[in-house]
Amino acid sequence: MGKTPNGSRPQNKLVAVTGGSGFVGSNLVARLVDDGHQVAIVDLATPAPELAALPGVQHRRADLRDYGETLLALRGVDTVYHLAGNASGTLSVERPRFDFQINGLGTCNVGNACVDQGVRRLVYMSSAIVYGTPQTFPMTEEHPIAPFLPYGASKLSGELTLRSLHDALGLQVMIARSFVVYGPGEDPRTAGGEVSQFLRWQLNELPIPVVGDIDRKTRDFVHVSDVCSALITMAENGVPGEIYNMGSGREVSMRGLADAVAVATGKPSRLKPDESELADSFRLVADISKLRGIGYEPKITLAAGLKSLAEHLGPFPELPSVTVAFSREPAVRA
Ligand SMILES: NC(=O)c1ccc[n+]([C@@H]2O[C@H](COP(=O)([O-])OP(=O)(O)OC[C@H]3O[C@@H](n4cnc5c(N)ncnc54)[C@H](O)[C@@H]3O)[C@@H](O)[C@H]2O)c1
Repeated sequence: MGKTPNGSRPQNKLVAVTGGSGFVGSNLVARLVDDGHQVAIVDLATPAPELAALPGVQHRRADLRDYGETLLALRGVDTVYHLAGNASGTLSVERPRFDFQINGLGTCNVGNACVDQGVRRLVYMSSAIVYGTPQTFPMTEEHPIAPFLPYGASKLSGELTLRSLHDALGLQVMIARSFVVYGPGEDPRTAGGEVSQFLRWQLNELPIPVVGDIDRKTRDFVHVSDVCSALITMAENGVPGEIYNMGSGREVSMRGLADAVAVATGKPSRLKPDESELADSFRLVADISKLRGIGYEPKITLAAGLKSLAEHLGPFPELPSVTVAFSREPAVRA
């Protein structure tokens, strides 16, 4: 819903974005405000002051692990975008119960509260992590489901719960399986995506650490602006109960990304390969035909997205401090 031809705003509707203080959520809130909506940010964390100050934005602080708080936060809402959760695979390995409490129980609470509050449409941001190790290239939504991380299992439990609420209670939910998102607003202390990580090392004029096989490890990087368009397209045109891959549909290797980073910054990149962890050295790329079928088309090329992100970050941005872990030794109980 954009502005009408004469420039006036269309009929306002109250839309909630859970996780609206986070990376993807804050970008989505800004887009929805621009489209003329009133937006409730449902998040434990306080939104950035410039986001909270946008017209029609309110912060409804809630811990989605608590059903009473969730129910109150979604009162009077027409459409919910459910983005709140743990987005870190590493954290899910370190603290699986914490990961499940927000991604599993929290998502169940959001779905149930949508039913109880008569919310019209719900879009859930799941992850391609639910597929596990890719068996086919590119991956369609029919790809087998075999998550290898607690994070994948908890996101899948959220999907299955919401689909059961669709089947049993008529919840109008659409599920987005997101590939790797990048763009302004990522927290370098928690975000694991390679695009902003590579760029941050490069902008500090330091070698770029590359975990895994530099050529065999490929990803589908999608700009957060395209992700916002995809989520809104799903809310407007998606078929309830359906799952949609959300990506760019383009394959980029770690070497290809480093080359693109060099072009975007106008300086050659130096790489520091680390092949000690090869668990995710696979091709992970979305087939986005299904999402295209309801009107989505990614617009931001990696070259353009990198250039604008480099400008946004400026020289010498904070360095990434995320560790990559796919397993750990179990703690010994006394
Ligand atoms: N960033 C990516 O590349 C990516 C890829 C695939 C899927 N996803 C999914 O997209 C969603 C958003 O990701 P992001 O990168 O913006 O994450 P983020 O960590 O930046 O934001 C998550 C938000 O959820 C909030 N939150 C966490 N626990 C909460 C609770 N108990 N109650 C209320 N709010 C709570 C946090 O305060 C935070 O603002 C996540 O669900 C993630 O699993 C992200």
